[in-house]
Amino acid sequence: MPPIANVADFREKARRRLPRLMFDYIDGGAYAEVTLQRNVADLEAIALRQRVMRDVSSLSYEVELFGETLPAPIILAPVGSAGMNARRGEVMAARAAEKAGLPFTLSTVSICSLEEVRAATSKPFWFQLYMIKDRGYMRQLIARAKAAGCRVLLFTVDLPTMGARYRDVRSGMSAPQTTAIKLNRLLSGIAHLDWALDVGIKGRPHLFGNLVDALPSAKTATDFGAWVVKNFDTTVTWDDITWVREQWDGPIVVKGVLDPDDARAALAAGADGLVVSNHGGRQLDGVLSSARALPPIVDAVGDKMTVLMDGGVRSGLDVLKALALGAKGVLIGRAWAFALAAEGEAGVERMLAILRAELRVAMMLTGCTDLKTAGKHLLVD
Ligand code: FNR
Repeated sequence: MPPIANVADFREKARRRLPRLMFDYIDGGAYAEVTLQRNVADLEAIALRQRVMRDVSSLSYEVELFGETLPAPIILAPVGSAGMNARRGEVMAARAAEKAGLPFTLSTVSICSLEEVRAATSKPFWFQLYMIKDRGYMRQLIARAKAAGCRVLLFTVDLPTMGARYRDVRSGMSAPQTTAIKLNRLLSGIAHLDWALDVGIKGRPHLFGNLVDALPSAKTATDFGAWVVKNFDTTVTWDDITWVREQWDGPIVVKGVLDPDDARAALAAGADGLVVSNHGGRQLDGVLSSARALPPIVDAVGDKMTVLMDGGVRSGLDVLKALALGAKGVLIGRAWAFALAAEGEAGVERMLAILRAELRVAMMLTGCTDLKTAGKHLLVD
């Protein structure tokens, strides 16, 4: 493979290294993947406004989020099972983020536990919460996040059940485990021997580290999907933010909002921030792209709470576009998952450096010397 230049190259390298079903699990979206494509296409379609002959010798990438100054407005989004992309993958990604001074978000359904990531890092990371019916368990989980020193709680609200992902059915990831599918998995492992040795064997155990008591074994997405149906709390409403607040005194960020009315409800419920997100096009297909959903939400609540966005961000140029649309920061999901699968910790570090270099060019050629001033004026309307 030629040297890596951008996120698309990391994706290609990940495609070669991972067994097909692992790659499809990351790359795919729900149903016909319309929203997944819109996320990327709508960001791509936005035209940055080139401005020249400005003094761009000094640039400030810094933003302030939830009382912390970050060296760039980029956060690693929660990505479940990332420990299957590279050996102890969440630890690797958290370390890479730490080196870049950026927040890493650990998923509830990570392979590495809160404690494992905490022991391997020195900077506080963020934790993502799914609401499980057993509130006693939730209380313990939030207490563990607190004990691990997590700074921000991302409460994901767009997964009362899992969207159907056709690619996972076809790949055998979420299909009844027939002998043929099992054999296929084995052969796929043999065909991707580097991964099989590094992750499949040396990367064990492959448990959901934060949920070992609640979900002792989930070998396939079918097992996991069945567990979600049985255990995720579908009664959750905005009133439950009060319950979360009782357990957590740090910032609470609601992830998975696409509608201005829901954004207002999140504000009224006492959330400190929200992530405009459609879960990377993995939940309800056909909904708005994040880039299109973002501006009305910023208009509705942007001056009262911190609005972040994710979905389709594949370059530093996209980061600037999202900020120009009103986001205070962006989360990246697949970009880091691919970099991790392709080259482990060093890959995530390199990918973050690439995003930053791309952001630098975008800032210089739009005349944006300070990201805190980014706004609609950076775009051609
Ligand atoms: C996700 N996402 C996700 N979100 C979440 O709140 N908890 C989770 O466990 C996961 N797991 C997960 C796995 C994989 C493989 C992907 C690709 C995504 C969604 C993620 O946090 C984020 O919203 C999207 O990935 C953003 O879109 P992009 O950057 O992937 O286009």
